[in-house]
Amino acid sequence: MSQFDVVVIGAGPGGYIAAIRAAQLGFKTACIDAGVNKAGDAPALGGTCLNVGCIPSKALLQSSEHFYAAQHDFDEHGITVGDVKFDAAKMIERKDGIVTKLTGGIKFLFQKNKVESLFGKGSLKGRNGDLWQVEVENKGEKSVVEAKHVIVATGSVPRPLPLIEIDNVNVLDNEGALNLTEVPKKLGVIGSGVIGLEMGSVWKRVGSEVTILEAMPTFLAAADQQIAKEAFKVFTKEQGLVIELGVKLNEIKNDKNGVTVSYEVGGAAKTETFDKLIVSIGRIPNTEGLNTEGVGLEKDERGFIKVDGECRTNLPNVWAIGDVVRGPMLAHKASDEGVAVAERIAGQKPHLDFNTIPFVIYTDPEIAWVGKTEEQLKAEGVEYKKGTSGFAANGRALGLGKAKGTVKVLACAKTDRVLGVHMIGPMVSELVAEGVMSMEFSASSEDIARIVHAHPTLSEVLHEAALAADKRALHG
Ligand code: FAD
Ligand code: NAI
Repeated sequence: MSQFDVVVIGAGPGGYIAAIRAAQLGFKTACIDAGVNKAGDAPALGGTCLNVGCIPSKALLQSSEHFYAAQHDFDEHGITVGDVKFDAAKMIERKDGIVTKLTGGIKFLFQKNKVESLFGKGSLKGRNGDLWQVEVENKGEKSVVEAKHVIVATGSVPRPLPLIEIDNVNVLDNEGALNLTEVPKKLGVIGSGVIGLEMGSVWKRVGSEVTILEAMPTFLAAADQQIAKEAFKVFTKEQGLVIELGVKLNEIKNDKNGVTVSYEVGGAAKTETFDKLIVSIGRIPNTEGLNTEGVGLEKDERGFIKVDGECRTNLPNVWAIGDVVRGPMLAHKASDEGVAVAERIAGQKPHLDFNTIPFVIYTDPEIAWVGKTEEQLKAEGVEYKKGTSGFAANGRALGLGKAKGTVKVLACAKTDRVLGVHMIGPMVSELVAEGVMSMEFSASSEDIARIVHAHPTLSEVLHEAALAADKRALHG
């Protein structure tokens, strides 16, 4: 029987990074993963993120942005392109190529770092002295490996909607939404969260009529509401996404006429028939087949594996990271927890600050933030000051043809320490890193204001917002 220092279950961005870091620290490490490629005929490492999440969605967002720009934006640059055509199947083929390249890259990284990659479904069997036994099942064939430490990184799966079953033909989860080879004429989306907005944007840009039905009365409730309101206006008024808030779904039928959704909104009953319907109402932790009950691995009332602040479970030397534990379901959060756990096993004292995890929504304009929103600061009774600045007069943004959006810096009224940075605008997914760095190093808004920012760059808008927090904006 093979014995390891560390066995990781799951090779998503949490698990594969944890395995690589553990191997780098000198541990004999194996990573078990059951993921298969789109064709279903070969193992595919990388989990949700690489196969059916972050990476493929960003590929489609880029393709659809190019198509939209060629149709609507090139003209003002003096470029005439004539009749622009769109081939959805080719867009999906390009996306599949990127996925194959990156999932293959993990296989290479495992080999390079001497991580043993085991294909199959992992489940916890029990203890053999100091060691944990983990069963690996591949098409009915079972083997058992032993390890001193086990890191559970089994991720998440889409939250099901009781009203309708996902068939990934007409009613789609993220997997189906990323694989449409024809543009649906009418696309419905349930949930105006991150997937709803990103996927809704992709298919809207390439020609679908998109209606998003959201249960909450507030748009992007977790985001700073000044930014969320600006986003709502751009997405609905300028881009033509129909977003209905405060929706109560009554019935969904999937038949030869399409997918018919009956719902209530603002006291009125409505019915819409769509060619395709994306269901994106959140994700739930995935512990299926792990044998959590059998070994007594505790879960909370929502099904997440219970961990302390350092990702320790209730069982000795069993750790859990990523989407399967509390906290935001984000790839970078999963990876950073993976690194931290490997280092803790090695006796190091890594620190992961949950207050400085950045959030990004890759719409156009993008939305990004780190730290507290104004609403949170008010609710917590924290006295704060704020500075805002827009992209409208930023030279780089104007050159790019993307001069929409705002950056807001929130700082403590007494100490000037940065408490939150909120953005909507071009490439703010990149700009938010400066906010993260500032908060991580306990910077003040004055610190950001005194740092030299290159000209002309988008980062000057953050600089200006920091100056504004101190009431000394130069371009305000
Ligand atoms: P996962 O990536 O879910 O990986 C878990 C792995 O474990 C899978 O490979 C699975 O096959 C395997 N597994 C499960 N059970 C077993 C078992 N018993 N035995 C063996 N293997 C098992 N996050 C971002 O930060 N940025 C984004 O832009 C972004 N975009 C997204 C877009 C979409 C459409 C979706 C759905 C998600 C997106 N996310 C994004 C979220 C991100 O994908 C997840 O937060 C991240 O993948 C979580 O990583 P993980 O390692 O915890 O789990
Ligand atoms: P989400 O939590 O972002 O949004 C789900 C939305 O569905 C919420 O607004 C919720 O109020 C709504 N909803 C729930 N039940 C509903 C119902 N019955 N009817 C109508 N609306 C309903 O979840 P989403 O979009 O499914 O994404 C899952 C997770 O994947 C995200 O939470 C995020 O962590 C991750 N992700 C991250 C991305 C990024 O970082 N850019 C991109 C895509 C996903």
